[in-house]
Amino acid sequence: MRDARAKNTDATMRRVDAVVGLTARLAVRSGRRRRPAPPVDRDLRLVVADVRAEAPDVAGVTLVGAGPLPGWRPGAHLDVVLPSGLVRQYSLCGDPDRRDEYRIAVRRIGPGSSEVHALRPGTPLTVRGPRNAFPFVAAPRYLFLAGGIGITPLAAMARAATSDWRLIHTGRDRASLPLSRDLDPRRVVLRPDDEHGGPPTAAELLDDLTPGTTVYCCGPPPLIDAVRRAMPAGQPFHAERFSPPPIRGGRPFTLGLRDGTEIAVPADRSALDALLAVRPDVAYSCRQGFCGTCHVGLLGGGTEHDTAAPGRTALCVGRATGEHVIVDL
Ligand SMILES: Cc1cc2nc3c(=O)[nH]c(=O)nc-3n(C[C@H](O)[C@H](O)[C@H](O)COP(=O)(O)OP(=O)(O)OC[C@H]3O[C@@H](n4cnc5c(N)ncnc54)[C@H](O)[C@@H]3O)c2cc1C
Ligand code: FES
Repeated sequence: MRDARAKNTDATMRRVDAVVGLTARLAVRSGRRRRPAPPVDRDLRLVVADVRAEAPDVAGVTLVGAGPLPGWRPGAHLDVVLPSGLVRQYSLCGDPDRRDEYRIAVRRIGPGSSEVHALRPGTPLTVRGPRNAFPFVAAPRYLFLAGGIGITPLAAMARAATSDWRLIHTGRDRASLPLSRDLDPRRVVLRPDDEHGGPPTAAELLDDLTPGTTVYCCGPPPLIDAVRRAMPAGQPFHAERFSPPPIRGGRPFTLGLRDGTEIAVPADRSALDALLAVRPDVAYSCRQGFCGTCHVGLLGGGTEHDTAAPGRTALCVGRATGEHVIVDL
């Protein structure tokens, strides 16, 4: 009975993958931006089971619950609610078949990631999700290109891949390359900059790319941009960023608040950035429009590039269509 149910679940997940894959391929072909992943309104109360150093500035954290955890597919991340209340996204990097634990790996950068590094076994932690904005599409062959901590979603994909795959992990030096050593060494190439006189070119990373190979890339924005530009036309390419893309071609506008305060938003900065300069306590999380933390009511003006529901705006991505917007803050 359990086997039959597992087979049904696998078949359903394969159908879901096929539909997600088709949607992603159509989106790539039509040049549309990927639709933001819908929010998962589910708080899970977990406990930190283990914290260990995966690299000098990378902490690997294992979380467990009171029973089996909700399933997830490679590419999924958790919204982790840290003890201070900050919320940050972390990709699941463990084995998607394990329902008894979630694993994340976090590079120390600023306040949120430093809090993760300070977690200790036994600490209760609330997470939301898992949510997937980087779906793993069925393909005959994969090339995974990871830059530094960008290995996290790709490690889960490599663990789950049932067809041929190769992974190239780049970073400043061997010690700074977490997680890839746990994967099949015959398929993994570690490519530290200090042993090759600098970072790789996109041409080098795509050197052996065969037709039909699907490329997944996660890492610093310059790596993703360079690989995207170098990809042969029509070949499937999927990428996820951990930090917001630069704003190109934006126009300056004024952000008005309820009390009449007016904040100038420069052409190359988000309304959230401009607001944080005067109100550093404003909550944000993904900075890419999909988590909902910075969504606020819109009291005047219209927006574009927005991901919030009608009548609201995502301060991290929405831009005024005219010269000003007024928000409910
Ligand atoms: C979908 C998603 C998945 C993510 N998965 C991971 C993960 O598996 N492991 C992980 O360590 N981080 C991951 N991040 C980044 C993470 O959510 C935080 O942004 C990061 O920990 C920095 O938060 P902070 O509070 O320490 O610093 P902040 O002060 O909030 O960040 C400082 C700046 O650094 C940018 N930034 C975020 N990540 C990086 C990076 N790797 N290199 C350079 N700049 C960066 C932020 O966007 C911000 O502009 C993910 C982000 C997203 C959106
Ligand atoms: S910070 Fe996530 S939607 Fe703006």
